[in-house]
Amino acid sequence: MEHVYLKNIGDYVGQEVEIKGWLYNKRSSGKIQFLIIRDGTDMIQGVLVKSEVPEEVFEAAKELTQESSLIVRGVVRADERAPSGYELSLTDVKIVQIAEEYPITPKEHGVEFLLDRRHLWLRSQKQHAIMLVRHEVISASRDFFNERGFIQIDAPILTPAAAEGTSTLFETDYFDDKAYLSQSGQLYLEAAVAAFGKVYCFGPTFRAEKSKTRRHLTEFWMLEPEVAYADHEYNMQLQEEFICYIVERVLKNCRRQLEILGRDISKLEAVKAPFPRMTYDEAVELLRKNGVEKEWGEDLGGADETIIAEQFDKPVIVERYPAAVKAFYMEPDPERPEVVLGNDMLAPEGYGEIIGGSQRIHDPELLKQRLQENDLPEENYAWYLDIRRYGTVPHSGFGMGLERTVTWLCGLAHLREAIPFPRLINRIYP
Ligand code: 4AD
Ligand code: MG
Repeated sequence: MEHVYLKNIGDYVGQEVEIKGWLYNKRSSGKIQFLIIRDGTDMIQGVLVKSEVPEEVFEAAKELTQESSLIVRGVVRADERAPSGYELSLTDVKIVQIAEEYPITPKEHGVEFLLDRRHLWLRSQKQHAIMLVRHEVISASRDFFNERGFIQIDAPILTPAAAEGTSTLFETDYFDDKAYLSQSGQLYLEAAVAAFGKVYCFGPTFRAEKSKTRRHLTEFWMLEPEVAYADHEYNMQLQEEFICYIVERVLKNCRRQLEILGRDISKLEAVKAPFPRMTYDEAVELLRKNGVEKEWGEDLGGADETIIAEQFDKPVIVERYPAAVKAFYMEPDPERPEVVLGNDMLAPEGYGEIIGGSQRIHDPELLKQRLQENDLPEENYAWYLDIRRYGTVPHSGFGMGLERTVTWLCGLAHLREAIPFPRLINRIYP
């Protein structure tokens, strides 16, 4: 008999199939047992009727506990009332293992309790839906850049120096030396653009974030493109197209997951180009109008981003921040060198920053000066300066935080559910 995955069950209506999975939940009414079975791709209700199966099959099924592993056979029936649209009339149930008492029951549990059991929590319906959205965002991201002729160039994780400021560096021993976990692949991609023109990397990045917020992980995944001969304007345009592409793909391929998550889909359908844009100056103005005391020159914090992002039903681009609050490599605005040709993209509904990017300094002397001003030893960046010595060109790129984006798309309250095994200031288990 054919082993079928539940996500394809619709192709087998009227046929008898085999499903290999786990018991999610069950109900019983004496002569009928309703087994909710999941197989990793979806769930289905299996109906086991005492009068229709051998006595020993019906009796054995009574012993099934939550998360017991099992292989069942049954005839597929279309059923409009069922969440997946189908039901299984069971003809056989084979028990692989009767699971011990499962700690995560259908009742409510506290978040710390669940995070301690993240290795099991991933099996729950909502967590499962979030991971499928995450998977879709990753494949859509790769497709977007591959379709546009970008080459994937992987950046190293063990690095000799900071990319995004020294205060969030994770240090580790490297034989007789020190190494740092990568905060961003960007500097290496800047080397790669001179070799390949259009590149991207996708990998884990690390920040020793000392703050405990719903937006910060210590290990998160970032998608970073970099383009030679591209300016700030091109960069913002690319970000907009990229986010629209991702949202479209999630709407197309993750409807069911968004429904499971109770996501208001109309909010995502509103995400269409063009996105609103404002300068940092205008953002400060807007914050003041909303009662926030903001001096020009201060960075925007999470609470500020929430206020700005709440004004729009699409992501908003904030550009030309003061150079002093941004990374050393950002190109100054030639008309106004106190601000940089860089931007953040803030997701709506109060989610805040999902992208940070900029045009990069391509002049070797200016870059040296910025390294000095930021107390970054020039010798650590000799290779990075080389890029400016051998055929330097204007170039731009950005980084999209995967978990921030997934959190927004899924409408989650906290970033920790957007990654399989979150690493937080107070958590590295499991
Ligand atoms: O704005 P960031 O720090 O920019 C960079 O790292 C650039 N080098 C990227 C580039 O231009 N190639 O980080 C980029 C994005 C943020 O917008 C945010 O979405 C995410 O990475 N991010 C975090 N996500 C989770 N936890 C954290 N601690 C994060 N820090 C940044
Ligand atoms: Mg940023």
